[in-house]
Amino acid sequence: AAVVEHTFVVSQVNVTRLCKETLVTLVNGQLPGPAIEVTEGDSVVVHVVNRSPYNMTIHWHGVKQRLNCWADGVPMITQCPIMPSRNFTYRFNVAGQEGTLWWHAHVPCLRSTLHGALIIRPRHGAASYPFPKPDKEIPIVIGEWWDMDLAQLDRNTVNGVLVDVPTGSTINGKLGDLYNCSAASASEGAVEQEDGFVLEVESGKTYLLRLMNAALFSEYYLKIAGHTMTVVASDANYVKPYATAVVAIAPGETMDVLVAADAPPGRYYIAALAIQAPEPDVQVPLTITRGIVQYTTNVDDVPAPVMMPDMPNQHDTTGSFYFHGNLSSLRRHRVPARADEHMLVTLSLGSVCRDGGQSCARSDSDESIIVGTMNDVSFRAPTAAVVSLLEAHYYRRDDMAAAAGVELRALPDTPRRVFNFTDPAYIPYGPKEAPLEPTEKQTMVRRFRHGAVVEVVFQDTAVMQSDSNPMHLHGHDMFVLAHGLGNYDAARDVASYNLVDPPLKNTVVVPRLGWVAVRFVADNPGTWYIHCHFDFHLSMGMVAVFIVEDGSTVDTSLPPPPDDLPKCGSNKGGLDL
Ligand code: C2O
Repeated sequence: AAVVEHTFVVSQVNVTRLCKETLVTLVNGQLPGPAIEVTEGDSVVVHVVNRSPYNMTIHWHGVKQRLNCWADGVPMITQCPIMPSRNFTYRFNVAGQEGTLWWHAHVPCLRSTLHGALIIRPRHGAASYPFPKPDKEIPIVIGEWWDMDLAQLDRNTVNGVLVDVPTGSTINGKLGDLYNCSAASASEGAVEQEDGFVLEVESGKTYLLRLMNAALFSEYYLKIAGHTMTVVASDANYVKPYATAVVAIAPGETMDVLVAADAPPGRYYIAALAIQAPEPDVQVPLTITRGIVQYTTNVDDVPAPVMMPDMPNQHDTTGSFYFHGNLSSLRRHRVPARADEHMLVTLSLGSVCRDGGQSCARSDSDESIIVGTMNDVSFRAPTAAVVSLLEAHYYRRDDMAAAAGVELRALPDTPRRVFNFTDPAYIPYGPKEAPLEPTEKQTMVRRFRHGAVVEVVFQDTAVMQSDSNPMHLHGHDMFVLAHGLGNYDAARDVASYNLVDPPLKNTVVVPRLGWVAVRFVADNPGTWYIHCHFDFHLSMGMVAVFIVEDGSTVDTSLPPPPDDLPKCGSNKGGLDL
């Protein structure tokens, strides 16, 4: 196995989109950032040089980091952040996983421009893919362009100011020809179109598109006019080949799809459309982006018109529900037949008082803030702590954690209040204008014994009035056993569990007004984030930490932290490790 080494210089760069310069934070000046390409079993070494004004961490989304939680890259959870003008080197290996993953800054909203592909090829080469060997592989990152300060966007979200929407959708950082400068430079009357993504193909060849959704805001439908796609993997796990005209991909997910260039030579649009729940009616002016699939064969004979695919209705969230329900694992799994721990976790919104108290006018945005919740509690990041949660855990110093300002609370296994979760007519809290549960912000953790089989049912609630919620678990893949619309009912729904070939995912889509049941084995010691991959929900506190204890009978202890692990703010002494 090889050592694959990269240097990531994080700095601010002016980027022009829609005739307007915006200062954004990039890795090595690239958007998307550099792709890391490795072979299964390789070691990855990434030197992060932080020349940005922000505290930074990089997360290797979907990499299991077995016995290596230190490299997971979550600020204050697995490490103190890399402060401006400091460096840190991430070291991990990618054994036992192959397919498409990605990396991103784990700094809410900034990850809109700080992300890239992480591609893991099989140890024995492309010939050992469990599908026909593609002629070419192309990483495709779906994302968004925001012509605003992303740090400000995050502050707005944390303060419950939810008015901002992206300027547009992107494929590999490009807005495409549906966008032009007419609005931006109306005074000059210039209409300048944006460049789009172009994929050149040759008739008869097959392409493996490695799709990632790096958007903060939206799940996407992706189509290519005149072509079918065959999904062969998701979240770096192979799935049974599934031929479809449309792919649905939520923030955090990856999909590997094969496309055969078998249409009459010509030019075809590849289009990505942001999915938006029918309510509330958020007005996003431009939600579709398109690039071109261009046949190089007989290019001179190609007439000008480009075929546009028929896109699904963007308010139709059920297309994603059925798409995800059609994924199954390529191979049979030995899914644990029963779970040791059961949790029912509602995803919802609540309100906290700005003054930190309990009584305030919940309908008044001067007095209260809307927060994201899991089982009715909103996560408080331990930002004032002097060590990360993982260090406190590793040194067995829960008292130290408390002294350091990390007050941990247990995430309840069931929602505080049981009601008809998915009926919009029935929301139990307060008047219709402010139907939010009064709640508080706490650093919520759930501890699991090493090796425990954990079943979690995520239940969406009508309070959310939103799209599907992509829930991402760090350090583990989850078997997706079943999903449904409406309220989960164990007596009825356990019978529908797929214990034979459920897909394995690190990001599971909780359908709008529905539920999904997952099982995973908590076999990786550490402090693992679990959160919604919509950045607004993450910033708003739809987060918890799963702590997997070291094994008592088998030695699964974490190795000590790397020597150069960043320290938190230097002025807080008194707690020597
Ligand atoms: Cu891709 Cu915790 O995130």
